[in-house]
Amino acid sequence: MSTPSDKHIPVLLSEVVQGLAVIGGGVYVDGTFGYGGYTKAILSAADCRVVAFDRDPAAIAGGQDIVADSAGRLNLVHACFSTMGEHLAPASVDGIALDIGVSSMQIDEADRGFSFRQNGPLDMRMSSDGETAADIVNLTGEKDLARIIYEFGEEKASRRVASAIVARRRERKFETTGDLASVVRSVVRASKDGIDPATRTFQGLRIAVNDELGELDRGLLAAERLLKPGGRLAIVSFHSLEDRRVKHFLRDRSSENAGSRHLPAPVSRRAPSFRLVSRKAIVPGDDETRRNPRARSARLRIAERTDAPVREATA
Ligand SMILES: C[S@@+](CC[C@H](N)C(=O)[O-])C[C@H]1O[C@@H](n2cnc3c(N)ncnc32)[C@H](O)[C@@H]1O
Repeated sequence: MSTPSDKHIPVLLSEVVQGLAVIGGGVYVDGTFGYGGYTKAILSAADCRVVAFDRDPAAIAGGQDIVADSAGRLNLVHACFSTMGEHLAPASVDGIALDIGVSSMQIDEADRGFSFRQNGPLDMRMSSDGETAADIVNLTGEKDLARIIYEFGEEKASRRVASAIVARRRERKFETTGDLASVVRSVVRASKDGIDPATRTFQGLRIAVNDELGELDRGLLAAERLLKPGGRLAIVSFHSLEDRRVKHFLRDRSSENAGSRHLPAPVSRRAPSFRLVSRKAIVPGDDETRRNPRARSARLRIAERTDAPVREATA
């Protein structure tokens, strides 16, 4: 029988598994289980253990077959990866993989409310609790709404979009993705590259609904605490907002950081807590993007934990 996971093609799979340098007896975290593509590959690479996280109850339910087949080597946890420190001890993990973003299961199901191509409830939550996109669109003040759409959606016409949303919700609250998409399309001109004018607004709202950048920042700090010396971190991201954060974090942690310029040098100079395994982001080859167009924007960064202590946030 074919299952959704058979149809899902994990992005940069061999690069991620190679980057983790999986060893027998090791403990690995898959922070974004999804269809379990990375988890299955890690479990097959060596006789190791995987602790996998997903915030989406549907991903956890879908992964039970993989748990059953794992002979006790997979522990699947329904939680955000930012909480991994509550489930694992400091310096106890040999590798952590994060494949940030939404899964095709989430995008393709109209009922999840991520897609402007199919009509569905305006939801966009990866988990089943918290504020929905409809809550944000119907209740957020115009200025804050414009900021969300500008900062997280990188939409230049964010003020025009926010103003159109506020005007429309005075008449009638937003309930569906189709509803929102048509209001955005009425005020944002279609670009020459054929990208739907609603794309950026939907991205901004999705990032806000799921606090995706906050999750990533907390996940990076948790990874620094959990990895053993020599442990590997492999992160795949799909847009520049995320990749920039990963790059800056790893650049900061892999340099002999001068820390705060308000502190005297001997106190603030600290040893790097990570070593970059690849200086540049690894991107999919032509072959992969031909087989899986979704991989086109993926960027993988890999770093190895040193034996230096965890760094506190720089001032
Ligand atoms: C791109 S998919 C992962 C696909 C996976 N690598 C595979 O090969 O099947 C991303 C998954 O991560 C989950 N996710 C995203 N952000 C998360 C977070 N902060 N904590 C836990 N899970 C998260 C989503 O619910 C989704 O199922």
